[in-house]
Amino acid sequence: MTKIVSHRGANTFAPENTFAAADLALEQGADYIELDVRESADGILYVFHDETLDRTTNGTGPIGHALSSEIDALDAGSWFGEAFKGAIVPRLDAYLEHLRGRAGVYIELKYCDPAKVAALVRNLGMVRDTFYFSFSEEMRRDLQLIAPEFRKMMTLNIAKSPSLVGAVHHASIIEITVDQMRRPGIIAASRKAGLEIMVYYGGDDSDVHSEIAAAGVDYVNLDRPDLFEAARGQR
Ligand code: G3P
Ligand code: CA
Repeated sequence: MTKIVSHRGANTFAPENTFAAADLALEQGADYIELDVRESADGILYVFHDETLDRTTNGTGPIGHALSSEIDALDAGSWFGEAFKGAIVPRLDAYLEHLRGRAGVYIELKYCDPAKVAALVRNLGMVRDTFYFSFSEEMRRDLQLIAPEFRKMMTLNIAKSPSLVGAVHHASIIEITVDQMRRPGIIAASRKAGLEIMVYYGGDDSDVHSEIAAAGVDYVNLDRPDLFEAARGQR
């Protein structure tokens, strides 16, 4: 059965990348939680998407210029709704401990020290439960040098061809869009290359969720775990 990867947690109903978003995603049927990692000025790893604090907290400026003491005091919930007032920006260590034994984790390295992430995951004994991606070539290269045994994901858009995902990018999972899933041959070529397949879908169309469920891919990375849980339950 296709595993649900919940993009930034259940971000439609709770503030993205918070404990509340992760917990709700698991309640809604998610198997994996996707999260983004950035680092504070004093080198603490946080679960945080944007380069700056402005959109999703009551802070301002780049997270990489803020001290952990300042980030720990931020409100990462009020922007989304009064019910989430006081939600914190999770430290990565606490977030992973919170998920350990309950879910798999897709770790996207936005900008941080990959060696710190690798050490943390190893110390927590979560290597088999995690996989990784970064849009940054530098992050991907460094993580591969530091943790060659970790499971990596690569997008078809960056890799250009399924056969290059493992050979060039050291990845065992390929991420494709819904349009790419519909194009004849891409799923077969990915399987032939020995890859697991993840479809990315950011919408809320139930028919598309059903179409992805019918495609029989390994993972779906999405914003609505509740809708996909319903779709895969009908199969
Ligand atoms: O797999 C890619 C997806 O997770 C992208 O995440 O951070 O660009 O919303 P983001
Ligand atoms: Ca991400």
